[in-house]
Amino acid sequence: MQIIDGKLISTKLKEEIANEVLQITSTGKRAPHLAVIIVGEDGGSQVYVNNKIKACEFVGFKSTHIELPESTTEEELLKRVQELNNDSELDGFIVQLPLPKHISEQKIIEAIDHSKDVDGFHPVNIGKLTIGLPGFVSATPFGIVEIIKRYNIQTAGKHVVVLGRSNIVGRPVSILLSQKTEHGNATVTVCHSRTPNLKEITQQADILIAAIGIPEYVTADMVKDGVVVIDVGTTRIKSDQTKSGWKLKGDVKFDEVSEKASFITPVPGGVGPMTIASLLANTLKAYKSKN
Ligand code: GUN
Repeated sequence: MQIIDGKLISTKLKEEIANEVLQITSTGKRAPHLAVIIVGEDGGSQVYVNNKIKACEFVGFKSTHIELPESTTEEELLKRVQELNNDSELDGFIVQLPLPKHISEQKIIEAIDHSKDVDGFHPVNIGKLTIGLPGFVSATPFGIVEIIKRYNIQTAGKHVVVLGRSNIVGRPVSILLSQKTEHGNATVTVCHSRTPNLKEITQQADILIAAIGIPEYVTADMVKDGVVVIDVGTTRIKSDQTKSGWKLKGDVKFDEVSEKASFITPVPGGVGPMTIASLLANTLKAYKSKN
């Protein structure tokens, strides 16, 4: 059994990006530029956004951090989005989710110029992904495919079972892995809350992707020997063992499932670290397509 080191491959990916940025800036060109908008004071979001800004510094990107108060109206936020859309020195930007309840997330996502949508949430980018056109793939599916690539995990002809059908993880990853591409060509089953006899299906998985957000849902009796397990779960639970007072739990009961797995991602340190690297990779892609 091999534990997949998401932190290590994310560092490698970031180093590759940093090298490219160095090559670009050494010719006198400007560095890629990412902006992040955060509205309100959600503690989790602030940690994520700070990590995104730190990652920009690591790879040599210019970054802009826009903090808006909880009371920001939808109209005001739409105006900020338009300003960023029109900024020719900005390659990509994201609006951190969740947004306060009085703002429609979908409306904001659709207002973002899809050529700057480095989150890959805009319907144009989701449409492109669906029919295999180049565009921005959202962070978690991108991170999962990158893990599969870098660990040389074979997908062609394999049975991939995806638990969860969310727009940002389950659905796009199921599409990517079934496509006629080097790291696709899998037979994919998407399971969800209405799937009967779930265990019978998960037991057939060569690769199991757990993205349902129920801590430790996947147990050893649900998988076969040699399975590759990708755990996307990141539920925060209270803990008196950590300084922050909480810890992350995956969707997989790691101790028992790892005994049967050939490869498994831990939580934390698996898929999570890959997502920020994906955002940087998309920003570099946006920069290169413009310059
Ligand atoms: N909130 C949690 N994950 C994400 C993400 O990948 N992008 C944005 N914009 N918000 C998030």
